[in-house]
Amino acid sequence: MASTAEKYKSDGSLAGNALEWVDARFPAMALYKEHLSEYYAPKNFNFWYFFGSLALLVLVNQIVTGIFLVMHYKPDAALNASGVPVAFASVEYIMRDVPLGWIIRYMHSTGASAFFVVVYLHMFRGMLYGSYRKPRELIWLFGIGIFLCLMAEAFFGYLLPWGQMSFWGAQVIVNLFSAIPIVGPDLSVFIRGDFVVSDATLNRFFSFHVIAIPLVLLGLVAAHLIALHEVGSNNPDGVEIKKHKNEKGIPLDGIPFHPYYTVKDMVGVVVFLMVFTVVICFMPEFGGYFLEWNNFIPADPLKTPPHIAPVWYFTPFYSLLRAVTYPFLGIDAKFWGVVAMGGGVVIMAFLPWLDRSAAKSIRYRGKIYKTMLAIWVVGFMLLGFLGTKPPSYAFFGVIPGAPVAQILSVYYFLYFITMPWWSKADKCKPEPERVTG
Ligand code: HEM
Repeated sequence: MASTAEKYKSDGSLAGNALEWVDARFPAMALYKEHLSEYYAPKNFNFWYFFGSLALLVLVNQIVTGIFLVMHYKPDAALNASGVPVAFASVEYIMRDVPLGWIIRYMHSTGASAFFVVVYLHMFRGMLYGSYRKPRELIWLFGIGIFLCLMAEAFFGYLLPWGQMSFWGAQVIVNLFSAIPIVGPDLSVFIRGDFVVSDATLNRFFSFHVIAIPLVLLGLVAAHLIALHEVGSNNPDGVEIKKHKNEKGIPLDGIPFHPYYTVKDMVGVVVFLMVFTVVICFMPEFGGYFLEWNNFIPADPLKTPPHIAPVWYFTPFYSLLRAVTYPFLGIDAKFWGVVAMGGGVVIMAFLPWLDRSAAKSIRYRGKIYKTMLAIWVVGFMLLGFLGTKPPSYAFFGVIPGAPVAQILSVYYFLYFITMPWWSKADKCKPEPERVTG
């Protein structure tokens, strides 16, 4: 933190005097310098580096729109005088009667999908440039924590409109816990607060969605950024800019984050907002992928929809769950499916220690890494696609989807488990000493 000598001196203007007053009592200038004007970021960031600031933007969007939604939303499963659940009716009220309610609601629902688009691309950038490797392991681990929170947040949020998919989606996922030996059945009752998804479930999911998870998420995002600023950013060349500094201790390949990257990030923000606005105004349901058709029907505990599928961002992991169809060690296949689904996320946390490649960035890695990663990405997307379809789905009506999903699931895990060997065997190009521009 700043010593007294570094404290802000007013230029005599009103704003200057105010800043001097604040800076004498709070390290405003020291924080500004440390994290913005004197935070040196590599000068060769490319478009992949937009997604961190975009994730922050979407986070703010979700919190602000969420605050306004909560002013009108009611977490109540009881039926109103017209026989419609109060929670469902309150969302309809927001959409039809609250001034600008429709845009706030669509900003929030589209924001949920946008969050996952941005975060998936942000994570993929980490895989491209080896950003999770030493000394950035903790940034990555906090990131995995954020990802788990985001999934929980989206799952809890999806129950709130109390539509058919809200109800039955929650029913399917909470039921999965009953597959855990011995404690499972009691655990699922404990999570629901009832023997079926009910008003008690809606109230607790609301509480988790609006306060518990956001608090943890904000804490993790702060930790993520503190860890990032402690070690400094990686870059598309994967070389450490702190290795070459001038006599003042400034990295030779670094530029101040502000104004250079604050301005550059604005370009990403403008493009993002353009796409975001088009989706909100012209295709908020996004063909049933962002808001499923079935969720425009009030929850009906007596009528199961013919095909229950989670929202698109969960489907790769849902495919891992469905891929396990055999019991093992005398325990139900459903349990191992849950293990596969959870393991699919958790295994990513180990990347910093599984990757033994000589080079960090994909630019200098060899053919093995490039091929393995390319297959993994295509596999992940295919798993996502298959997760949106019923298990009976066949590609072009002939190639059955279920065994394809099983093969891709095996590859998904083998990619990580065998990484220490193939990443070490990969023939990398020599990394440059300085960034290449
Ligand atoms: C709310 C969600 C998140 C926010 C707001 C966020 C924010 C940021 C920001 C602002 C940066 C610096 C700019 C940049 O490098 O793009 C960053 C870097 C990073 N993030 Fe995140 N992040 C989030 C989620 C994640 C997740 C889920 C992961 C991975 C599991 C992750 C891994 C990383 C890594 C490895 C870096 C360093 C990248 C580098 O230096 O090359 N982040 N994050």
